[in-house]
Amino acid sequence: MSDETTRKKVALSGVQPSGNLTIGNYLGALSNFGPFTDEFDCYYCVANLHSITVRQVPAELRRRTYEVLALYIACGLDPDKCTLFVQSHVHEHAELSWMLSCFTMFGELSRMTQFKDKSAKHADNINAGLFTYPVLMAADILLYQADVVPIGQDQKQHLELARNIADRFNGIYSPTFTVPEPYIPKVGANINSLADPTKKMSKSDTNENAVVRILDPRDVIIKKFKRAVTDSDNCISYNNGSDGVRNLMTIYSCFTHKSYDEIEREFDGRGYGDFKTAVGEACADGLADVQKKYGELMADKSYLESVMRAGAEKASHTASKTVAKVARKLGFVQI
Ligand code: TRP
Repeated sequence: MSDETTRKKVALSGVQPSGNLTIGNYLGALSNFGPFTDEFDCYYCVANLHSITVRQVPAELRRRTYEVLALYIACGLDPDKCTLFVQSHVHEHAELSWMLSCFTMFGELSRMTQFKDKSAKHADNINAGLFTYPVLMAADILLYQADVVPIGQDQKQHLELARNIADRFNGIYSPTFTVPEPYIPKVGANINSLADPTKKMSKSDTNENAVVRILDPRDVIIKKFKRAVTDSDNCISYNNGSDGVRNLMTIYSCFTHKSYDEIEREFDGRGYGDFKTAVGEACADGLADVQKKYGELMADKSYLESVMRAGAEKASHTASKTVAKVARKLGFVQI
């Protein structure tokens, strides 16, 4: 068989090493990444170039880079089966980002809701990188000719922009980039805050009781769920329950794989106290393996560095081909 017919489709995704990841990141992204590796040729990056759009403490950024890589592996991404790498190790990301920024309109970037939100939140540091962030994300994706991009709902607009940039470039020159499709998991993508269940659970929330982190110890997880905001109706029902109850049911269902009907039957006639304890325990149980593996990996920095090195090499190989192709089309002299 020729190379073309055996070529697996490419999947690419990235996670920023800023903030401790939450069960929203886990259920919406990380826990789904593993099954992808059989079906797709996967590239997963630690998006540290993206992180500096807001001010970071260097030592924390460095530590979190190792953490995200360790979490990727602990969540089931096998570095021998896919390409795990750190964005800053592959200089083509910054290079292609510049080239693509010349094919991205000021108006398009101005319409990005995340830019509007972040500039409101960081009013003292509305830097150019915050504005061009979606172009860098487009470069991440287009460098690897990704067919699918697993993302959360909040990144859909950025992916749409990446598609537009790819289409535009392909139209002006000739087919150069694969136009990527989003992959948004149905469940898990919408895990909300435990304190305000109308809002998405955010890793940068300042109220620690609102977020459950992948690496929270068991007792902390259980305590946080016990404090979760519900209501006074004592109604454990997906259709008739409050936002808080629905959010807890979603989380419980993700960790136990029980349907909403089964959950309603299980807690029929029982109170919120029982229910919240059960959700906390299911979540802690569900994360136990990941936490154990993560601990082992973090104790072996040299292993993680060897994964980074191998990943950077594999990623650069693909990325450099795309950059060379783009440079040629743009009219840059190749020497
Ligand atoms: N911007 C994404 C986020 O904050 C992270 C990211 C960076 C990403 N590059 C990517 C996601 C490429 C998908 C594809 O969640």
